[in-house]
Amino acid sequence: MSAWLKTLVVSSAAVAFGGAASAAEDSMDAVLGKALFERPWVSAPSSTKAADGLGPLFNARACSSCHQGGGRAAVSLQEGDLPASAGLAVRVGAVKDGKLAPHPELGLQVQTMAVPGLKPEGSLRLSFESHTEQLADGTTVELRRPRFAIMGEQGSSDLAWISPRLAPDLHGSGLLERVPLSRLAALADPDDLNGDGISGSIAMGHYGELDIEPGRFGWKGDEPDLVHQISAAFHFDLGLATPLRPDLWGDCTIAEADCLAAPHGAAPGSVEIESNIVALVVTYLRALPAPAGSRPNADVSTGETIFAKIGCGSCHTPQQQAELASGEMMWFSPYSDLLVHDMGEGLADRAADGSVSPVAGARDWRTAPLWGLGPRVAAKDGANLLHDGRARSVLEAILWHGGEAAQAKQRAVELSAQDRAALIAFLEGL
Ligand code: HEC
Ligand code: HEC
Repeated sequence: MSAWLKTLVVSSAAVAFGGAASAAEDSMDAVLGKALFERPWVSAPSSTKAADGLGPLFNARACSSCHQGGGRAAVSLQEGDLPASAGLAVRVGAVKDGKLAPHPELGLQVQTMAVPGLKPEGSLRLSFESHTEQLADGTTVELRRPRFAIMGEQGSSDLAWISPRLAPDLHGSGLLERVPLSRLAALADPDDLNGDGISGSIAMGHYGELDIEPGRFGWKGDEPDLVHQISAAFHFDLGLATPLRPDLWGDCTIAEADCLAAPHGAAPGSVEIESNIVALVVTYLRALPAPAGSRPNADVSTGETIFAKIGCGSCHTPQQQAELASGEMMWFSPYSDLLVHDMGEGLADRAADGSVSPVAGARDWRTAPLWGLGPRVAAKDGANLLHDGRARSVLEAILWHGGEAAQAKQRAVELSAQDRAALIAFLEGL
């Protein structure tokens, strides 16, 4: 155990046991994991001794700068230049041999920050294109589609696709991880054999040539579990190497020679973040309780009935089962089938396919869990719903639904003002 980790263990123990007498020893790991989640990692100095090895290119110094309090990115999405650490990750790609591939210079994600002496890959500028949609009762709603541009030397040259994604809320991840694969397989209907127009699939993630696993985390649902997801976060967002993603230079490409040559936090052949550190962060996330919801006083049963009747629940599965460590099954309510669906052209990010993501294509997204929707909508930075935060309200989010969800959306458009209000009241109570 390194010196700083020892210090952390001692100081966190003081917090855990000094603060709450009931804190049991088995919660110690979660306390440590929380400290690691909030820790601003530091870059390696010119000597290779004792430093974390943040970067050389990165998007934030801490997990918690994107997931505040384990929650969603607290970002105000406005036109203009975005701050370097904006709670977003922007995936990019190019076309190689007729297939979509990571970008030859930028890699698979744009890093907006760099260690001293190196330049970030670029900064982000945001603009919106607006249009209006009309509901059956005559109400008009303005929708805005974000356009992200990469500013800087490398700019947006040769970009075949750009996929901006907002850091999601992590509460309840431990339960999502425990939904058995057999349950996902039972919900999936890739060829729409039941003819309801909805064909969810289990996303398949690629982790090297031979490692292809069924996924469930991330907006495209392609990370299989928390260990993979967190290792990807260390790699892409922080530039730190873990056993699952051992490149000390993170997402730097061979075109970025000065990044490859920069000091790293470990000797070649070893990693910057050992598996025990990854495991502590996993324990913290597993201990994060499910979103509490806004617990409305009013009766929301009318809205709940409408939600089911117009087909929202076909993807936003109200009840899921988690298999607890004890082997017991537990019902919980994430309002997601954890499958990916074709959501139509309006939400597509052009990450069409190729070697980058074998199943989740441009139009495919994992059903966003709706638990915690009420507090998200009420957040002071704005609701920022959907993968890139474009929707400012529940109604806007619904109106962006297309593809397999086109029918459900149309039924929502046709609701009377009163029924629509009931539906929204139900959703904002989640
Ligand atoms: C630069 C911002 C940023 C940082 C820093 C960051 N994340 Fe994330 N996180 C994201 C984004 C964006 C996604 C969605 C990724 C996707 O869809 O591919 C995400 C997704 C996740 C998920 C999956 C949640 C779900 O339900 O799908 C987990 C778990 C997670 N991050 C944990 C972490 C941990 C642990 C760290 C620190 C090691 C971290 N993140 C650092 C932006 C960030
Ligand atoms: C075919 C599957 C499907 C159906 C049917 C469906 N949704 Fe969704 N929903 C999704 C997916 C996938 C996303 C994430 C899309 C994205 O982020 O680009 C989503 C996102 C949302 C969000 C945004 C959540 C957030 O935190 O960002 C809301 C709100 C929502 N859906 C409500 C509804 C309602 C209400 C209905 C019924 C009118 C409905 N959905 C029907 C698949 C579906």
